Amino acid sequence: MKAYVDKDTCIGCGLCPTICPQVFEMDDDGKAVAADEEISETLIDSAREAEESCPVAAITVE
Ligand code: F3S
Repeated sequence: MKAYVDKDTCIGCGLCPTICPQVFEMDDDGKAVAADEEISETLIDSAREAEESCPVAAITVE
């Protein structure tokens, strides 16, 4: 599974790196970016929590 952030949709609220810092971080442009590699089994729940918590639904975990 991998996580993706739609930068056009992200409003830079900063919630996802707070919930799951191992997968999401804030980029230099003030938008979130997801790690490029596969999400390890132990992080999937928190990555999904970030996906569900994003106020503008900019995150996809699939
Ligand atoms: Fe952006 Fe949503 Fe994260 S608005 S900073 S992708 S929680």
